[in-house]
Amino acid sequence: MKNILVTGGAGFIGSNYINYILNERDDYFIVNLDKLTYAGNLENLKSSQANKNYHFIKGDIANSDLVNFIFEKFNIKYVVNFAAESHVDRSISGSEIFYRTNVIGTNILLETARKFEVEKFLQISTDEVYGSLGKEGLFSENTPLSPNSPYASSKAAADMMALAFHHTFGMPVVVTRCSNNYGPFQFPEKLIPLMILNSLNNKKLPIYGDGLNVRDWIYVIDHNKAINLVLEKGNAGEVYNIGASNEMKNIEIVKLILKYLNKPENLIQYVKDRPGHDRRYAIDSTKIKNELGWMPEFSFEKAIEKTIDWYLQNKNWWERIINGEYQKYYETQYKF
Ligand code: NAD
Ligand code: TYD
Repeated sequence: MKNILVTGGAGFIGSNYINYILNERDDYFIVNLDKLTYAGNLENLKSSQANKNYHFIKGDIANSDLVNFIFEKFNIKYVVNFAAESHVDRSISGSEIFYRTNVIGTNILLETARKFEVEKFLQISTDEVYGSLGKEGLFSENTPLSPNSPYASSKAAADMMALAFHHTFGMPVVVTRCSNNYGPFQFPEKLIPLMILNSLNNKKLPIYGDGLNVRDWIYVIDHNKAINLVLEKGNAGEVYNIGASNEMKNIEIVKLILKYLNKPENLIQYVKDRPGHDRRYAIDSTKIKNELGWMPEFSFEKAIEKTIDWYLQNKNWWERIINGEYQKYYETQYKF
């Protein structure tokens, strides 16, 4: 049995990871430690909650006593650290919690993992640590870190800390840096679910700036497959970029969503740009392809439709969110 501590497993990517792995493998025992912030939702894990190889604990990765207790009680040998504050706009409105969770929390996990001599510590990171690209070029693992938002800077700090623990203590740490994900269970504050739900509800679609910022989109299951490959075969001390070579301008995505849902383009509303808005992200994932044999399997055209269909079929899931605390966030963020 592989005893794995998954942190942040009630969020978007973490819950997809747990559901996917428990479905694929019966030699993994997963302890999910999640604080259940606004972004954590146990409904995402309905298909896993009764699995005998799954155990949920509500708590904070920055709680050293709790983390120690978990490592000891469950004989944890692997860590996949998804837990984070993950939204750039929220990091602009208030950054403290980003450094508490993403930096201090990761430090506590690393120190505890070191004490218990884990076999692999996987730090889930983002391409946003590299900063912003111009029209040309891709982020490789050797691109210097140049994070621009408080969110990205907190993730970059955690990456460097994780790699320093490898360098100094020989800990088996691996870092993955993935591009923008989409898929089921993504919290509606992020571009794709926000635009799907606003379209469905005939609400304005707020596009920051000129709408020409570029992101490199990957379906969440392709990301999760890469994560598991890195967990099993990734070399200690290495960084692996993950991306599906699917660059799109924000406005293109929004128009595609409107078209699929048969909604008018006059729902689009250009709004004030995000401060410090990164222009373009694009990932070179040659390393993980060549060294670990990973390949993305989902085409954007099919997977975006699959994602929109999921939101169409899971109204209960998102209605509870948009009618709750999220409403206040939305009104403050968008003022309409
Ligand atoms: P999310 O916001 O949907 O989920 C984060 C989860 O972490 C939530 O369940 C939340 O309750 C939990 N959490 C937050 N603070 C915690 C704490 N102190 N202790 C325990 N749990 C805590 O985020 P996501 O989109 O699923 O992202 C997961 C990870 O992947 C993050 O580390 C993020 O930086 C990284 N990432 C995300 C993307 C993306 O496109 N979403 C891309 C690349 C990397
Ligand atoms: P987001 O989903 O927040 O991811 P990230 O900023 O981490 O890449 O945003 C994706 C892109 O969409 C980014 O360029 C900002 C833009 N965006 C809007 O234009 N309007 C919005 O309401 C949101 C949330 C994002």
